[in-house]
Amino acid sequence: MLYRTLMCGHLRPQHVNQEVVLSGWVQRIRDKGHFVWVMLRDKTGETQLVFEEGVSDPALILAAKALGREFVVRIVGQVIMRESPNHQLTTGEVEVRVRLLEILNPSDLPPFTIETDTDGGEELRMQYRFLDLRRKPVHQAMLLRHRALQFVRNYLSDKDFTEIETPFLIKSTPEGARDFIVPSRLHPGTFYALPQSPQTFKQLLMVSGFDKYFQIVKCFRDEDFRADRQPEFTQIDCEMSFVDEKEIMNVFTGMVKGLFQHILGVDLGEFPILTYQEAMSRYGSDRPDLRFGMEIVNLLPMVQNIDFVPFVESIQGGGTVAGIVVPGGAAYSRKWMDELTEWVKSPRFGMKGLAWLKVHEDGTTKSSFDKVADENTRKEMAAAAGVGPNDMLLILAGAGNRVATALGELRLRMGKELNLRNKDVFAPCWVVDFPLVDWNEEEQRFDALHHPFTAPHPDDLDIIDKGTARSRAYDMVINGWEVGGGSIRIHDNAMQQRIFKLLGMHEAEYEAKFGFLLGALRFGAPPHGGLAFGFDRLCAMLAGTESIRDVIAFPKNNAGRDTMLDAPSVVDNQLLKDAGIALSSK
Ligand code: AMO
Repeated sequence: MLYRTLMCGHLRPQHVNQEVVLSGWVQRIRDKGHFVWVMLRDKTGETQLVFEEGVSDPALILAAKALGREFVVRIVGQVIMRESPNHQLTTGEVEVRVRLLEILNPSDLPPFTIETDTDGGEELRMQYRFLDLRRKPVHQAMLLRHRALQFVRNYLSDKDFTEIETPFLIKSTPEGARDFIVPSRLHPGTFYALPQSPQTFKQLLMVSGFDKYFQIVKCFRDEDFRADRQPEFTQIDCEMSFVDEKEIMNVFTGMVKGLFQHILGVDLGEFPILTYQEAMSRYGSDRPDLRFGMEIVNLLPMVQNIDFVPFVESIQGGGTVAGIVVPGGAAYSRKWMDELTEWVKSPRFGMKGLAWLKVHEDGTTKSSFDKVADENTRKEMAAAAGVGPNDMLLILAGAGNRVATALGELRLRMGKELNLRNKDVFAPCWVVDFPLVDWNEEEQRFDALHHPFTAPHPDDLDIIDKGTARSRAYDMVINGWEVGGGSIRIHDNAMQQRIFKLLGMHEAEYEAKFGFLLGALRFGAPPHGGLAFGFDRLCAMLAGTESIRDVIAFPKNNAGRDTMLDAPSVVDNQLLKDAGIALSSK
């Protein structure tokens, strides 16, 4: 049977008078008595079918009236011009006068409307994800994802990267999350781990001489949920030999610029490079949102003579006083200030309070510390901190890193309130010179900030053991999202052992976990480095959505469940037995 001669979304005035065959889903039926209109949808769009009393066969009209939403039908008919065109629709100038209608498969009434603005809640849509995927925005997101995938593959292949698959049933790779484990039936009591990333494999491929590798690959991490995280997600994973940071950053700035140009027609412009220190001190974050300013101002020099207890205590305790200038903030109400104060005092930030200084339209000032700062002092402070008429300075005092983090979040919150975080504006950057390690208070040892294979900064080799060295790691950040990250790796066996020891591992432990890699580093490992992008995050950004779930065909919900499949679920006892697993009563 000939199912179609054209796709629904492709009909145009040039097809008028032609007989066409179309197949698709019934989107909507409008029954006006003399006329019945049916919207027919396929992946390319919608086209209007028309049945008209006096023109169409009465049995055909009855059949059209009996159609239901989401029925699958095949029609044969003639393309005609519409009397009243619909300019919202690419096919809106024409319609098809049907002469033959065949139901290929009826449909139950869908549990929610298959429209752009659906009446279905998240939970229901996830349960019937195959129907949700019919909805235009979700469907389009998948098509966008496909185009992005093709672009990346072509870009990297053109640059002489080789795509190589690496195994999923492996041994733990440390990326800072928990592993998902898979029991082995053939070796009861032992487990594979699913890769958190192909990190060690791609390094081995450099030792094997492949020179440039990439893979668009699933990674698995058992970690807490956020809108930008899934337990299984896709990386564009890359590695190169005989390169430095500069070359890697060039190649991948090019890739991401090309991708945004290809999909959105947007030129991302320059990618400024910020050091970690700069990013923290100016934006209070190692993934700064550069769509707006509102940079952190160091107020220490300006508050030395203000006898305000929080400032004095902070200075005496070796802490800091810093703030951000909120444009138009002088008009904020007492209630709003109270809410912000409670927010910074919450356990997430642990600040003691929020001080403020407002400059009114007429230049007069007011602050939360008026008792100890007269108008002159306040004016001086406002001028030095760059607070203009109608603006407000929000001030935090306390330990340096806490103040920076809290101001960073306050800055993001105010940026959102003031609509400065427009999703159609893109502000990329690279953040470099991350610390090599981070002190883990709970376990009383250092953790690798990136991963243990990251090379230390060559200027900091003699302070590695103090834990204050920088690393050769870099992240690409767009609009406050870490879209990718990587590093130049350690290719020297002795240095790799030194770093394992710094991270509190004994020789027996690191030999057991990473003996294969240490071995490879003894057989002519070239200098190498690479990075991985969160492909879902890039797609979400390209699709203009905040949740990566919107660009994943079958995502997990907030609790890590697939409600459509009802997974995770209990397994057959025999499977457990075969794997040598007994469940505890808990
Ligand atoms: P990293 O752990 O930084 O580096 O991961 C690389 C990128 O993957 C994305 N990402 C995630 N996306 C969705 N859900 C998650 N749970 C998730 N976790 C990470 C982020 C991140 O920037 N092997 C190193 C890369 C390297 O050194 O080459 C790695 O995996 O966008």
